[in-house]
Amino acid sequence: MAIEVVPLAHALGAEIRGVDIAGVVSDADIDAIRKAWHQAHVIVFRDVAWTPEQHCTFSRQFRELDDHSATPHDQLEGFPELLEVTNKPKNGQPSQTRNAGRNWHSDYSYTNRPAAASMLYCTEKPPVGGDTMFCNMARAYDDLSDKMKGIVADLQSVYDFNLVSGTAKRNPAKMAELLKLNPPIAHPCVRTHDESGTKALYVSERTSHFDGMTRSESAPLIEYLCAHATRPENVYRHQWCVGDLVCWDNRTTMHLALGDFDQNHPRHMLRTTLQGKKSGYVVAPAEV
Ligand SMILES: [Fe+2]
Repeated sequence: MAIEVVPLAHALGAEIRGVDIAGVVSDADIDAIRKAWHQAHVIVFRDVAWTPEQHCTFSRQFRELDDHSATPHDQLEGFPELLEVTNKPKNGQPSQTRNAGRNWHSDYSYTNRPAAASMLYCTEKPPVGGDTMFCNMARAYDDLSDKMKGIVADLQSVYDFNLVSGTAKRNPAKMAELLKLNPPIAHPCVRTHDESGTKALYVSERTSHFDGMTRSESAPLIEYLCAHATRPENVYRHQWCVGDLVCWDNRTTMHLALGDFDQNHPRHMLRTTLQGKKSGYVVAPAEV
C-alpha cells in the first residue's frame, strides 16, 4: 500500500497513512516520508503502539539522535535518546518538564547543536486540552518584504536558557547546572535547511536579543517577527490522541505546548531529537 499524505492545515501539517512505523520501514517509504515532511514541516502518525526501542529505531532512520546531554535531568531512565515530557512526578519529585514548552520556540536553539527535528509520542493525555501549536517559519520568512529579508539576513539571534519556559519552576540547583551547560549562544536569524535548502526565520520567544544590539533595540523586532510568524493563518494546532507521533522540523517551524488543561490529569510524552548541524557561538549577556 502506498503512503498517503493528508494535509491537516493550509500553512503546515500533514497526516501520513499507509505505513506501519513500528515495524520494518523500507528505504523507499523513509524517502517518501522525508519528502512529505519537508513539504508539510509537521507530520503526524496515528495509532502508533511501540516500545522506546522502536521509537528510537524509527527516528534513527532519518538522522543521528541527540543524547539530550543539554538537559540530562529530562532523559528517560535508561534511554538517553528519549526525553520525557511529563507532568507526572519523577523519582518522587515534581517533574522538571511539567511546564515545558509554554512559549514559542524551536528545540535546543540554546545549544550549539540546535535540533534538526523532533518526534514526540503521546502515551497519556488529559481528557481535554494539552494541545501543541506549530507555525511555519519558512512561510514567515517568505512573506517578509525584500527590505526586511535584507535586515534579518545580517542578524544573529541570541538564545538564552533563562527564557526557556518553565525554568522558574525548576529546582534552583538543577537550573544552575543547566545554565552552566547552556550559556547564551548566537545563531543566524535566517536558518538554511541543510537538506532541502529552504530558508526560514530562526528567532523565537527564547531570543533575548540580536548580537551586537542591546536588548531594548532588539525587543521590538523580535516581538514583530514572532507575532508575524505566529499569525493564526500560519499555525497548525494539534489535538493529541494517545498513540499519536507528531514529528516537526525545528529548522522550519516553531511550536508551543499549551497549558490549557487540568494538571490533575496526566500528560505524558516521549521525544527523540534528531541532531542538527553544529552551529552558533557563545556570547556575553547583552546590555539592557
Ligand atoms: Fe519544544
